[in-house]
Amino acid sequence: MKPRVLVAQRIPADVADWLGRRCELRVWEGEERLSREALLEAISDVEGAALVSYRVDEEFLVHAPKLRVVSDISVGYDNFDVDAMRRHKVLGTNTPGVLDDTVADLVMGLILASARRIPELDQYVKQGRWLRAIPEPFFGRDVHHATLGIIGLGRIGEAVARRAKFGFDMDVVYHNRHRNAGPEERTGARFLPLDEVLCRSDFLVLQVPSTAETRGFFGSREFGLMKASSIFVNASRGDVVDEAALIAALRSGRIAGAALDVFAREPPAADNPLLRMDTVLALPHIGSATSKTRADMCMLAAKNLVAALEGEVPPNLVPELRDR
Ligand code: 8YV
Repeated sequence: MKPRVLVAQRIPADVADWLGRRCELRVWEGEERLSREALLEAISDVEGAALVSYRVDEEFLVHAPKLRVVSDISVGYDNFDVDAMRRHKVLGTNTPGVLDDTVADLVMGLILASARRIPELDQYVKQGRWLRAIPEPFFGRDVHHATLGIIGLGRIGEAVARRAKFGFDMDVVYHNRHRNAGPEERTGARFLPLDEVLCRSDFLVLQVPSTAETRGFFGSREFGLMKASSIFVNASRGDVVDEAALIAALRSGRIAGAALDVFAREPPAADNPLLRMDTVLALPHIGSATSKTRADMCMLAAKNLVAALEGEVPPNLVPELRDR
């Protein structure tokens, strides 16, 4: 008998076909996300689930007595309570690798758009305000030859460093929990203590996962060390930053701007001050959102799911659950 699985979102037809040949599939096709109640109901009789950012915690696991694996269709798996998953002997997988270049493209887009004020000047033209050559207050700043600081030089960070170094001839410095020799050799990025990276960077890219250690770690102390002319870029997770400190740093002119693909709460509340600041460029968490990459993530998630259900070690079992 094929194992029953829930896929909590629409997936490409070829992925559904591939999964459907191996599992008894239940796909949630709704526009809206499943409510918590509907999710708990939907997992009550499944052995596997593929989903994005629904919280997989004790309550979830208690409602899914047959569950053997949860396959996240994302690289970040901060929605997993790995201790609870270990207790319930449920495997968890993610989708690293296939989205690195897509997210790195977006990071460069955020840097370029904020440095050259692209969204603002797009509006300037469309609103009919382009009557003569733009005055100096609208001038931007150069990206090429500027110093790019990367906090978190993993796969995505390395893809950003490569673009910055070889595409824009930027001086790339980074900080990581551990020095990362491979990316250093491949991209010329230089390891520095965190505070040095903060003081030197013209553009500061945060590229760390959200974990118990990183949550809220970037706060007023860190913003306080940055250049007043610098731009803060975050396309990783919003809760890694103390958002109140970011708002304060922007309001006081401690930093010049922020380009954000992620927020502490998503979607952000309508009254979030970041959404009313001219110095902020805001996007709706689109780091991996190209058709090809999202399809690749779905297929990788399907392969992880099936491998686990077939009793194999899935290719992208998250490290915390490797030695159960
Ligand atoms: C996800 C992401 O697709 O992979 C991640 O960690 O942030 C994105 O690629 C996103 O969570 C979808 O909402």
